[in-house]
Amino acid sequence: MSSRTRARMKSATAPVSRSMLLAAVPVELEAPGLASECASATIETWSRTLPLRDLLAEHGSNVWIIAEAQLRANLAAWTRLAGTAARILYPVKANPSPAILEILASAGASAECASPAEILLARLAGFTDDRIAYNSPAADLATAWKLLASGGTVVADSCEFLTALDERAAAADAAGQPSPHGRLLVRVNPSIDIRYRKAESWSDLTSHAKKSGKFGIPSEEIVDAVSRLVHLKVDGLHAHVGTQMDHVEPFVLLAAHLAQLARAIAARTGVLPTILDLGGGLGIPFAEKDRFPSIDALGDALLPALDPRFEHWFEPGHALVGDAVALLGSIVAVKSVRGKRWTIADVGTDQLAKITLLSWHHPVLGPDGEALATDGDDSLGGPLCFSGDTLLPATDTSRLAVGDPILVQHTGAYCASLASTFNGRRAGGALLLRADGSIVRTSPRAGGLDEPLARGYEWGSATGSRAARQTIAIDTLMPLSSKVLREDLCEERFSYLAARSEGTHAFEFDFAVASPVGFVSMPLAIRLAGDAAIVSTLRMLGYTTKAFPVWGTSLDLRMGAQIPTDRPVTVRIELSHAARRDGAGSRRLAVRFTIGGDAATGSFEIMFDERGAGC
Ligand SMILES: Cc1ncc(COP(=O)(O)O)c(C=O)c1O
Repeated sequence: MSSRTRARMKSATAPVSRSMLLAAVPVELEAPGLASECASATIETWSRTLPLRDLLAEHGSNVWIIAEAQLRANLAAWTRLAGTAARILYPVKANPSPAILEILASAGASAECASPAEILLARLAGFTDDRIAYNSPAADLATAWKLLASGGTVVADSCEFLTALDERAAAADAAGQPSPHGRLLVRVNPSIDIRYRKAESWSDLTSHAKKSGKFGIPSEEIVDAVSRLVHLKVDGLHAHVGTQMDHVEPFVLLAAHLAQLARAIAARTGVLPTILDLGGGLGIPFAEKDRFPSIDALGDALLPALDPRFEHWFEPGHALVGDAVALLGSIVAVKSVRGKRWTIADVGTDQLAKITLLSWHHPVLGPDGEALATDGDDSLGGPLCFSGDTLLPATDTSRLAVGDPILVQHTGAYCASLASTFNGRRAGGALLLRADGSIVRTSPRAGGLDEPLARGYEWGSATGSRAARQTIAIDTLMPLSSKVLREDLCEERFSYLAARSEGTHAFEFDFAVASPVGFVSMPLAIRLAGDAAIVSTLRMLGYTTKAFPVWGTSLDLRMGAQIPTDRPVTVRIELSHAARRDGAGSRRLAVRFTIGGDAATGSFEIMFDERGAGC
C-alpha cells in the first residue's frame, strides 16, 4: 500500500482501460449455464484404518487426531484453484492448533486472523507478516496499522474503520514516517442475493453475506467510501458468502460482483483494486447423504468465470481442515431409560458445539472403523449434564461396550476453537498423524477437570478476604515460612550431561542436579526448563554464543509427580517458529517443555531482541 501520490503514479503506469469500467453498481447478476449438480465432497476415509484400541490404550481418550496427509491434500486441491498456496488464507478461527498452523505455514499458505491473539499464533507458527491478513468487525486500529507497516494485509470492515486508517496514514505522513507497504482490502456486504440451495434451520446463523448482517460495507456505498480516502489506496475487495455453502453459484456470482465493484472503483478513482478475496464457506458433508461440491468441482465452475486481470484469494475453513481432524473418545457407560438403550461416551458437545448450535451431527466410527448407523432405537450420548449433549440421537450401539473406542469424524473446523469448559471439562490434547504414518503428541493433555473452575474465580471472596486490612508483625511469620524456599534452594545446582536434537525444533537434555531437598523443586524446574529453552532457541537460530538477553513473558507449569535428583533429569524442549513482534522489534517464541518424562509439563513464552546488549 502507498500514499495517494504513489497510488496515482502506479495507476499512471498501469492505466485502466475504459472497457474495464462499469458505470453503475450494483447490478444483480445471473450465472448462466451453471450446472447445479457437480462432484460432491465425501466423508474422509483416512481415519477408518486407525488402530483405535491401541491409540486409546497409549494416549487415553478425548484426543484430537490431526491427519497431515489429508490437510496437505486439501491444501493442494485449493492451490490448484488459486494458483499458489499463498493465496489460500487459512482462517485461524477454524482451528488454531499449532500443528495445523505449522503445517500450513511451512507449505506456503497464508493466514486469516480475526484478533491480535490469532495474529500472534500465526506468527509463532511461522507465517511471515506478508502472509497474514487481519479481518475483524471489531478490528484494533493499532494492530491493523502495525500489520500494514510490516507488509501484512488488513481487511477494513466498515467506512468508520477505513476513515480511521486513513487518518492514521495522515498522521504518519505528517510525521514523515514511510507509507506502510502492506495491502488494504475492503470487506463488501454484497447487494446480490447469496443463498443456500437448500435452506436449513441454521442457514440464518451461518450466512455471512446477509444484506441485513453486520459485516462489511454495502456494495452500493463502496465506491464512495473508497473515493473518500485521501492517504490510502485500496488494493482489493473481500466478501465471505457464509459457512457450509452447498452449491457453487454463490462463489461465481460473488467473483463477478466483486470484479464489477472493483472496476467501478477504478472508474471513479483511477486505481483498480486487483485482489478479489472470495472468503471461505465451501461446505463439507457430515452425513453420507449430504451434498456439497468438492474443491475441484468448485474450481471447475469458478475458474472459467474468473477475470484473469484479478488475483483471487480464498479463505477455506471447513473445506481445508474440517475432514483432517477426528476426535478419539471411548464408551464410559451403557444404560437403559424406559427400555431405550443409551450408550454414553466421554466426548460430547463441550467440544462438538456445532451439534448444539446448528444440529450438525458428526459421523462416528465404532472400534472396528465402521460408521455407526444414523438410524436405530439406541442413542449415543455425551457425558455432559445437558439434554442436547447427544452425538447420535438414533443409532445402533449393540456392538459397543464400556471401554470401547469411538472416533468422531470431521471435527477439524470450529470444534476445538469453540470448545467450552462446561462441567469443568478440558480437552485431552492432540496427536499428529504424520504423512509418513507415524504418530506424535502435539499438545499435552490439559490439567485436572477442576482446573478451569479453579482458575475462573477469586477464591476467598465469600469468606472475608475483602475485609479491612490489618497489619501483621513479620516476626510472627518467620516460624511459618519455608526455610527451604527462602534460603536452602539457593544451593540448587545443575549441569548439562548430554544433549540431543530431533529435527530443527525439538531438543532433549540430560542434567545432573544437586538439590538440598532431593527432588526438583518448582523454582528449579523453571530454571532447568528456562535455560534449556534459551539454549535450544539460540541453537535453532544458529547462534554459537549468547550475545543478547532472552526473557520469559509467561509461564505455565504443572508438576504431577516428584522428580528425584539422585539420577539424571531429562528435559525436553519443543519450539515454535520465532515470530517477529513487529516490523523491526523484538521476537517471540512459544516453548513447550517436559521434565522427567511427563512428571512435569509446561510452556513458556519467551522474548529476545538480537539488537540488545550482551548478557
Ligand atoms: C472472514 C471469514 N473467512 C473465512 C471463513 C471460513 O469459513 P468456512 O469455514 O465456512 O470456510 C470465515 C468463517 O466464518 C470468515 O468469517
